[in-house]
Amino acid sequence: MGHRVRKAVFPVGGLGTRFLPATKSMPKEMLTVVDKPLIQYAVEEAAAAGCEHFIFVTARGKGALEDHFDAAPELERQLEEKHKDEALDAVRKYLPKTGQISYTRQTNPIGLGHAVWCARHLVGDEPFAVLLPDDMILADVPCLAQMAEVYAKTGGHLVASENVPREHTSRYGILDVETDDGTLAKAKGLVEKPKPEVAPSTLSIIGRYILDPVVFQPLDKQMRGAGNEIQLTDALAATLDRVPFHGLRFVGKRYDCGDKVGFLEANVAFALKRPEMAAQVRAAIGALLA
Ligand code: G1P
Repeated sequence: MGHRVRKAVFPVGGLGTRFLPATKSMPKEMLTVVDKPLIQYAVEEAAAAGCEHFIFVTARGKGALEDHFDAAPELERQLEEKHKDEALDAVRKYLPKTGQISYTRQTNPIGLGHAVWCARHLVGDEPFAVLLPDDMILADVPCLAQMAEVYAKTGGHLVASENVPREHTSRYGILDVETDDGTLAKAKGLVEKPKPEVAPSTLSIIGRYILDPVVFQPLDKQMRGAGNEIQLTDALAATLDRVPFHGLRFVGKRYDCGDKVGFLEANVAFALKRPEMAAQVRAAIGALLA
């Protein structure tokens, strides 16, 4: 089996309580950065890394996500009639082809590990990516594409990593580092959300993974971990004797869109990268701060 990563899993069953009331009737993954929902950035990133099959682990109330990745015949007809080519392009060009998206439901929100496990039959026995749409990464080469290149050499499990302030270790999965060349770190252990005083390092897992399917074996046992949830980090830790685990310090800037300030920051940062609006945005922010 080669190391090509064809499938990407998007755990999108979460409640989004931090963004209420915005997320009362709308999935949090539909929150907009400039003019695209978070989920679209994640799907485009997976496609740019060569993924061809997109697996959504959804939940009740997440129907808008399916509609977003479906054709919209009435809207498209109207745009056609009005010769709104740019708008038409915007609603069409990101759509994966029929059959390239699958949906499965997580009936109970009991952890990221459980969400990934829900996709096991769709993933099968091959390496796969996991993207958490809350984590947005602004980069010249999209983060998952950077990882796919490195994965061709490392195999096993590879995650995106960055060093976080020690007082923040309890928000992340943290690597117990065995070797580290400054870009790629090999882990000998992993801990989910350790307190700063016991964290084995400050090197954290960011929401991009390329995983060996061996991870489904410990997930089958449905063991609860931090926060009484079935943790992906614990399942990965349980397979460290089977496959290597690396954390890659990607080139780029990560925004935590699960946090209100991080989300606002992402909006500004992504707007400033858009040539058609950058100057106006800069001027508007300047005026606000003056
Ligand atoms: C999840 C993972 C954690 C990882 C983080 C990245 O946590 O469990 O290991 O560091 O995503 O964003 P969550 O943010 O869902 O609490």
